[in-house]
Amino acid sequence: MSSSTHQHQHTAPDAGDATPSEFWEEFYSTDTRPWTGNPNEVLVDAITSLPHVTGTTAADLGCGSGADAIFLAQQGLRVTAVDISTAALQHGRESACAAGVDDRIHWQQADLDTAFPTGSWDLVTTSYLHSPVDLGRSQILRKAAAAVNPGGVLIIIGHDGVPHWNADAPDDFNFPSVDEVLTELNLDGEWTVARRDLVPITIGRPDGQEIDRTDSLIVLRRR
Ligand SMILES: C[S@@+](CC[C@H](N)C(=O)[O-])C[C@H]1O[C@@H](n2cnc3c(N)ncnc32)[C@H](O)[C@@H]1O
Repeated sequence: MSSSTHQHQHTAPDAGDATPSEFWEEFYSTDTRPWTGNPNEVLVDAITSLPHVTGTTAADLGCGSGADAIFLAQQGLRVTAVDISTAALQHGRESACAAGVDDRIHWQQADLDTAFPTGSWDLVTTSYLHSPVDLGRSQILRKAAAAVNPGGVLIIIGHDGVPHWNADAPDDFNFPSVDEVLTELNLDGEWTVARRDLVPITIGRPDGQEIDRTDSLIVLRRR
């Protein structure tokens, strides 16, 4: 699958000594629309290939400004959309109101590292949960798996390796491969890997240039 995504290149604030909350609050406050506002085509493809999602519940972890949560709500799901940034959630809320689906989305401010939301869902999804500041991603993904109801699905979308556009990313920027994610998750026999795709992506830069990179899609089913 070749695709262009909902993202465009953006300038992140300097990570410096910022806490995760400070960093992401500034990110969404200084650049009010860091993403295009369209749902991620990798997620759209994953969802449309899944049978029986309508009428169930979903959580989007690290939902950012909410385009994916809005898409899930438009599919009939009741969505819990979680992010550390209140500014991001406010953008999401405004967009969801404009799209007429805000009554189907619960916007929840939480640091997934220290206050993972309680509850369980039929679908748990997380897209590009990467950060230049502290983020216990592996632990969060394990909690995400534990929060999937029996018969449910976990979707993990991420950058595969350092994206081409971010060659000067700091060394500690963690973009694990599909194998590394599956190893970290260490799932038992209750789980099957429904999809593990590498997805060529083209993103547009503000100067109009297009840049290629590879993302990864993992779809896991719980018995
Ligand atoms: C690269 S963005 C991706 C946003 C969105 N999922 C998307 O695909 O456009 C990473 C997101 O994770 C959120 N995030 C980072 N650390 C977090 C944490 N500890 N708890 C909750 N959200 C966090 C950020 O605020 C940001 O919205």
